[in-house]
Amino acid sequence: MTAKVIDGKAFAAKVRGQVADHVARLKAESGLTPGLAVVLVGEDPASQVYVSSKGKMTVEVGMNSFEHKLPADTSETDLLALIKSLNADAKVHGILVQLPLPSHLNSDLVINSIDPAKDVDGFHISNVGLLGTGQKSMVPCTPLGCLMMLRDHHGSLAGMNAVVVGRSNIVGKPMAQLLLGDSCTVTIAHSKTKDLPAVCRQADILVAAVGRPEMITGDYVKPGATVIDVGINRIERDGKARLVGDAHYESCAAVAGAITPVPGGVGPMTIACLLANTLTAACRAHGLAEPKGLTA
Ligand code: GUN
Repeated sequence: MTAKVIDGKAFAAKVRGQVADHVARLKAESGLTPGLAVVLVGEDPASQVYVSSKGKMTVEVGMNSFEHKLPADTSETDLLALIKSLNADAKVHGILVQLPLPSHLNSDLVINSIDPAKDVDGFHISNVGLLGTGQKSMVPCTPLGCLMMLRDHHGSLAGMNAVVVGRSNIVGKPMAQLLLGDSCTVTIAHSKTKDLPAVCRQADILVAAVGRPEMITGDYVKPGATVIDVGINRIERDGKARLVGDAHYESCAAVAGAITPVPGGVGPMTIACLLANTLTAACRAHGLAEPKGLTA
């Protein structure tokens, strides 16, 4: 069997198109332009690439983009003061603080100072708690993108066995909550899991979010299963720089029913969902109907 390739790049373009349509309607009907503020502290090269890409796509869908680039030695007091001013700014509906922060800053403290209603990353403890109890919240972008692709491919996920490999706060844990919310039977596996390949072979949906290049090979995959590869790893092979996932693509694709490639799978969906979350936050802030199909 050769797996169907789930085209995240095309799906993300469709989601951004839907967001752009909603934004155009909001502007015309309510005079409201959603705005996203992105805060970058320091000069991490990967973060700089992400932040400029976020800014560009925010403008492309018709929203306002506010970029705040602060020096690496910014004090916690100054960063908290900036977030306080963004919390109070009516033009700002979404706030994202790019992670990782320099080590002298307490990420938990910083994230939890964001107004939960503007926390488009869904990392604030209030949003984590709301998601865990099945209440309306802001949902982390990467797992939301994975959920959208799974719903699109399968329709209903009810009763499916899902195994999430990885237990991070950004991907693994919220992914598990979302799959549970869609009535999957969910296992969270990790580096200490006994006989990981056997656990993974139980999965109808296998989400690889471990951060280890090509760790999930074909022998971890049940024939016909759907493999969602969240990994983005830069490696060197045969003297060339390459981008690979947490799943070993060729061997997994030979067994799976469907698989997301790297690049062009989950990655593009993350920014699309960030834009969707910003739109959702703007609608909620103004008591307007939320966009359909763009929330959990
Ligand atoms: N760094 C890596 N992924 C993310 C993300 O989803 N949000 C933020 N804020 N920083 C990140």
